[in-house]
Amino acid sequence: MHEITPEDTPVVRMVGITKRFPGVLANDSVDLTLHRGEVLALLGENGAGKSTLMNMLVGLYRPDTGDIYVHGKLAEINSPQDSMALGIGMIHQEFMLVGNMTVAENIILGMKDLPLVPRIAEIKKNITDLSKRYGLQVDPDKTVHDLSVGEQQRVEILKLLYRGAEILILDEPTAVLTPGEARDLNEILKKMLQEGKSAIFITHKMDEVMEFSHTVQVLRRGKSVNVCPTSSIKRIQDLANMMVGRDILFSLDRGPFKPGEILLEAKNLVMDSLVGGGKRVLDDVSFSLRGGEILGIAGVAGNGQQQLTEALTGLMMVNGGQVFIKGKDHTNKTPLQIIKSGVSHIPADRGRMGVVGDMSVGDNLSMKKYRTKELSDHSIIKRSWVRLFAERLIETFTIKTPSQDTSVKFLSGGNIQKTILAREIDSCGGILIAVYPSRGLDVGATEAVRQNIIKQRDMGNAVLLVSEELEELLMVADKVAVMFEGRIMDIMDVKDAKTEELGMLMAGVERGEI
Ligand SMILES: Nc1ncnc2c1ncn2[C@@H]1O[C@H](COP(=O)(O)OP(=O)(O)O)[C@@H](O)[C@H]1O
Ligand SMILES: [Mg+2]
Repeated sequence: MHEITPEDTPVVRMVGITKRFPGVLANDSVDLTLHRGEVLALLGENGAGKSTLMNMLVGLYRPDTGDIYVHGKLAEINSPQDSMALGIGMIHQEFMLVGNMTVAENIILGMKDLPLVPRIAEIKKNITDLSKRYGLQVDPDKTVHDLSVGEQQRVEILKLLYRGAEILILDEPTAVLTPGEARDLNEILKKMLQEGKSAIFITHKMDEVMEFSHTVQVLRRGKSVNVCPTSSIKRIQDLANMMVGRDILFSLDRGPFKPGEILLEAKNLVMDSLVGGGKRVLDDVSFSLRGGEILGIAGVAGNGQQQLTEALTGLMMVNGGQVFIKGKDHTNKTPLQIIKSGVSHIPADRGRMGVVGDMSVGDNLSMKKYRTKELSDHSIIKRSWVRLFAERLIETFTIKTPSQDTSVKFLSGGNIQKTILAREIDSCGGILIAVYPSRGLDVGATEAVRQNIIKQRDMGNAVLLVSEELEELLMVADKVAVMFEGRIMDIMDVKDAKTEELGMLMAGVERGEI
């Protein structure tokens, strides 16, 4: 990490910033100082107020009270254009690209001083030059909705660079990326920082904090509770405790392993991709999963895990093989038939598949259970039961929301995720399929999610847990299967599994070759 030379005038100084939303004090008199060349890691639980604070720096919200100084001058930031003019740019937690426009169009979108007829050839050349300089590969002519998440992120970064931003705000940029993509991004960031740019970096990944930042600032419930040099942090656990305000255990309670009947079985599943020349994405996949058991699926993202869970939940058809649920053939059945047979699904893409943003938190929590006896009496929905039910889930899963009547779209990203988890875990009728359930969650929420998954197992349910974090799998699962290029390389008991061995299998090295 390079040294920073503190100057007299910080590049950004936020003083006494307070911001209230209906029912929440999102920022409570927060001070923040950023020096030239400094990377400040802004930490806090989901809903602590990090995005809100940053949104005020880029003119999306106005503080209720407090002042913002940029290069020592009081700044009036009323719009993203104002902040851009001050050299401030932000990569948002939810991307803000326009799907049906090209990369180049997105990059120049909203820029003020463009000529009436933009010289597209010149713009494209500039984009290509920039992408070479920073190792950010993207094709300027591609349409944004044809890009992967990682590529979209590169476009967001190029957009900032193109506009000459010197102060970068990165709001959980690696939360949606695979570990490989996250490493690439981190390399790019290093390059940008070596050029003297300053950054505020929001992340839940403690290793990134330790590697990248000079300073750590922690928000808790809208208040700034700590600012300290990163080098003064001796144990990652201390950071976690600062954020949550209590001890995080880093170890979980679990009952003894008591496997029951086989509840989910895959036999020789084969799936060929619908695009890209019909590549084989599932290749003879077989496993069986019992009640009271957690089977972890390890592997680098993109090796068939997603397709496997989509085949099991009826979202994609298989070309061969069979799926048995509680002993009955459910191959290529509809998602509704599969839900009715007792399968709950926490999908990887929670933004698109998990919630109805305009509906309230309470309705989102109860929507899978309206027709059950728990919430209705002779098919008449009991509103008071629904309210009690929602209250219970909000409490159990510590969903931060002003009330259960708030629209889900107003919650912070991590709390939207907790809403889906709560609904799916609670409505589990025997089998739970959880895909990256802790991705993007803060330490406290991650702990709660893992504990809840183990609770399902202890209650006798079968859990399929897809994760990229070996640490998580070894902590939570009973057995672990490794996927590589659509195949299951091996299935082993967690107590016999060694990290290095799993790593080799994930890279496609066969057992005999180790
Ligand atoms: N536009 C909004 N309307 C209402 N409430 C909001 C809005 N934006 C954020 N909030 C609330 O403010 C609090 C802080 O949210 P946020 O800044 O997104 O947290 P973080 O980024 O730390 O996860 C949360 O309780 C969230 O629900
Ligand atoms: Mg946020």
